[in-house]
Amino acid sequence: MLNQQEKVTPRSELIHRIKQLLKQENAVLVAHYYVAPEIQDLALESGGCVGDSLEMARFGREHPATTVVVAGVRFMGETASILSPEKRILMPSLEATCSLDLGCPADKFADFCAQHPDRTVVVYANTSAAVKAQADWVVTSSVGLDIVASLHANGEKILWAPDRHLGSYIQRETGADMLLWHGDCIVHDEFKGLELEALRRQHPDAKVLVHPEAPESVVQQADVVGSTTRLIKASTELDATHFIVATDQGILHEMRKQAPNKTFLAAPTAGESASCKSCAFCPWMAMNELDKLASALESGLNQITVDPALARAARLPIERMLNFSAQQQRRVRSSGNIENDMELYQHVGAV
Ligand code: 13P
Ligand code: SF4
Repeated sequence: MLNQQEKVTPRSELIHRIKQLLKQENAVLVAHYYVAPEIQDLALESGGCVGDSLEMARFGREHPATTVVVAGVRFMGETASILSPEKRILMPSLEATCSLDLGCPADKFADFCAQHPDRTVVVYANTSAAVKAQADWVVTSSVGLDIVASLHANGEKILWAPDRHLGSYIQRETGADMLLWHGDCIVHDEFKGLELEALRRQHPDAKVLVHPEAPESVVQQADVVGSTTRLIKASTELDATHFIVATDQGILHEMRKQAPNKTFLAAPTAGESASCKSCAFCPWMAMNELDKLASALESGLNQITVDPALARAARLPIERMLNFSAQQQRRVRSSGNIENDMELYQHVGAV
């Protein structure tokens, strides 16, 4: 007879089953920091990765598995498929999209580009393959600032889409001439500058970590602005015990794992009278559920496919970004004395 501890719960059975299926299907699980903690843990325990959108793209491409299961949102699955057309890309839910992707339809974006043929087209990774196919460069939040800075240094004028907050942050930091599409992330757009000031007054020693999809009033109060990975690294390396975090709360799982003795507070998305003051959860990331993940592996349904002609066109600007980032890291490492990735990021000033 099994004692209490030995009893297998249905959830742990499901996790066990997914691990078996991953092996059986020669598959690897690649997850984003915003998905449920149990899926993040499963990705790591099964030899996959949890990362920001750039790391997910790299990992999926480089891993020898023939199937990549992307626990994130649709643009991440599409990027994996574009970079590895020979692999099968599955997602727990094909409905998991992103407000930035939805807010930038390919035909309207084509009209915008046609009106400004003299500009270099830079698009955020949170877009469809059809939008990426029209771009000169694709960027994620971890390399966007550096790529635009280098284009600006080259005298190029930029057409940017779709996130207006990230675009205007990069514009302020680099001084580049940028025309911005007016999209936003429904999660980050909700962070409130005034309420953040009030929370900082209650915790004057806390460091403020902000994803650049947040509005300017929030970004201006940040100690560190950066991609999800950059914010996690900052939380371990900065000399503070308290942090206020302005991004999807899924990230707190990894922050608490890496810095268990520190206190993490979610930045406010609403005022005093609201019933939920910190409600930063992406509804599409939440669609990545364990049972859907198991079904995707069992049935082989939920496969992401990208039209081959579109994929070929979209691959070029994505490869440019990956090459830029790889070169940048090589340059910094060879310039010496870079002990760890945090130093590397600070050294290159990456977002
Ligand atoms: P990162 O590339 O920083 O992980 O951001 C992706 C995203 O969708 C943030 O909302
Ligand atoms: Fe898109 Fe925002 Fe969700 Fe990120 S958090 S996937 S930007 S809607």
